[in-house]
Amino acid sequence: MPVAKRPPAPWALALPAGRRARARLFLRLAAPLSFLLLVAAFLRTQPPAAPLDALPPSAGPGKVAFLFLARAGLPLDFLWDAFFRNGEEGRFSVYVHSAPGFVLDRTTTGSPYFYGRQLARAVKVAWGEPTMVQAEKMLFAAALEDPANQRFVLLSDSCVPLYNFSYTYTYLMGSPKSIVDSFTDKTEKRYNPNMSPVIRKDKWRKGSQMVVTNALLGQKLVNACYSYGINFSLFQRRLGFVFRRKQILKGAAQEEHDCIPDEHYVQTLFSIKGLEDELERRTLTYTSWNQSTLDPKDKMTWHPTTFEYDAASPEQINAIKSIDHVNYEVEHRTEWCQSNGTSVPCFLFARKFSYGAAMHLLEDGAFGLLKSAQLLVNF
Ligand SMILES: *[C@@H]1O[C@H](CO)[C@@H](O)[C@H](O)[C@H]1NC(C)=O
Ligand SMILES: *[C@@H]1O[C@H](CO)[C@@H](O)[C@H](O)[C@H]1NC(C)=O
Ligand SMILES: *[C@@H]1O[C@H](CO)[C@@H](O)[C@H](O)[C@H]1NC(C)=O
Ligand SMILES: *[C@@H]1O[C@H](CO)[C@@H](O)[C@H](O)[C@H]1NC(C)=O
Repeated sequence: MPVAKRPPAPWALALPAGRRARARLFLRLAAPLSFLLLVAAFLRTQPPAAPLDALPPSAGPGKVAFLFLARAGLPLDFLWDAFFRNGEEGRFSVYVHSAPGFVLDRTTTGSPYFYGRQLARAVKVAWGEPTMVQAEKMLFAAALEDPANQRFVLLSDSCVPLYNFSYTYTYLMGSPKSIVDSFTDKTEKRYNPNMSPVIRKDKWRKGSQMVVTNALLGQKLVNACYSYGINFSLFQRRLGFVFRRKQILKGAAQEEHDCIPDEHYVQTLFSIKGLEDELERRTLTYTSWNQSTLDPKDKMTWHPTTFEYDAASPEQINAIKSIDHVNYEVEHRTEWCQSNGTSVPCFLFARKFSYGAAMHLLEDGAFGLLKSAQLLVNF
């Protein structure tokens, strides 16, 4: 993917809350009109920064919100359809951030669970750039509008569930803490000293973007730009540098998931805010890293491996499902996976799955489901 030099993403500006502050900001910006329009679009997408205790209490059993970051459609919708079909109505909700203008309907998905579930507003996401975090925040903001949503699961369009709905639901609801992969990697060079003092080096974190939060931390994530005054253009500048270096190293055919602000944003934010005690510092989404890429010592060049049909065999899937702890070598930390004090499998989801790999999961009845032929009538 060619990486064009882009203006800072709208959310890159540390915006103090309040209209006057916004107006002053507008006046200060002697930037091209297109950029101003982007900023304006961003401001419109911000939810009101309601104080947490003002959120209305929710009745009923509570829902898990599945938040999909998609390029356009959802290539694995048939698998999620099977997953939701086994689910219980009223216990989940679906939100999709897709390309602006992309509508999920009968012509674009075979699964009714996705009809009309695209966000009303969307940004054009450049993979590997801060617009991806902006899209993430828009998903959380939309899901937080429904007080029944109590857990928020961020997923990409190549993620698959590994368990049936009821197991997944019970696991997530039984985990009061947010589950956010977060660690300090002393060997990595992405920290920019210019971020100090807002982001001190000891607060700089890294981890998978595929986070799961409760409502409280979801709200903190959404409000972050306003309340914490972090100038995130520093993230972007630094990462822009890394990105360019990698371009030189590897040419233009760069995979999208390499060096990305979304691997730092949420983790670093929660670290700065002293919220790490409210986290289980791990991820629920299994990723297989291809360590054989170029220089094995340069972890920045590792790629997530895409599972193809053969790799999604029952043996491989069961091997992933049996993992109950994760070693964070860089921190000399072993994370034993727990949910509400009980030992549990570490991973509920996995990525990146091709269509064929997802089909393999379905055929094997990964969720104790009907045979795929019966399920695929719409697809
Ligand atoms: C869901 O999966 C769990 C664990 O794999 C299993 O024990 C349970 O029976 C399954 N439930 C349904 C409704 O298929
Ligand atoms: C956590 O476990 C305790 C004791 O086993 C139980 O009473 C409580 O309801 C559980 N909490 C959740 C959120 O499931
Ligand atoms: C954020 O940092 C960038 C890069 O150092 C700088 O150009 C910009 O003026 C800063 N923005 C604010 C609002 O402080
Ligand atoms: C890992 O990367 C190497 C080099 O780019 C490639 O040849 C190999 O096929 C990749 N392996 C997998 C499993 O994707």
